[in-house]
Amino acid sequence: MTTASIDVLRAAALGAMMRAYAPYSGFRVGAALEDSDGHVHVGCNVENASFGGTICAERGAIAAAVAAGVRSFSRIVVATEATEPTPPCGVCRQVLVEFAPAIEVVSVTAGGDEARWTLDALLPSPFTPQSLTHQ
Ligand code: THU
Repeated sequence: MTTASIDVLRAAALGAMMRAYAPYSGFRVGAALEDSDGHVHVGCNVENASFGGTICAERGAIAAAVAAGVRSFSRIVVATEATEPTPPCGVCRQVLVEFAPAIEVVSVTAGGDEARWTLDALLPSPFTPQSLTHQ
């Protein structure tokens, strides 16, 4: 398994954050998703005047990776300009668990702070594809 370095992932997430479209919240988010071959897929939040149409950075990165033919991931780095590192929202946790129940989640700030979790710590007792077979 090839891995991208944390420095490469952090730079990719911060770069995507700079391209965020967040005119309503002013809260820019970038995500860099490392796949099992060490390739990096990025996403940023894309807001909408109809606020519910907003797409989070993490889900943008998952969508880009799946469209590129990749469904296996090892790590995601999320970047914001917040004062403290922020974990993914609940919807993004659910979307991540579909493909990568054991993914490592790293959150970085533009100021250089960092926090790390595993997805199973952030989303215990998840609803997964297997849940659908238990009927
Ligand atoms: N946001 C993300 O991109 N990822 C998250 O995990 C949390 C929230 C975005 C959505 C919205 O554009 C802005 O941050 C404020 O909620």
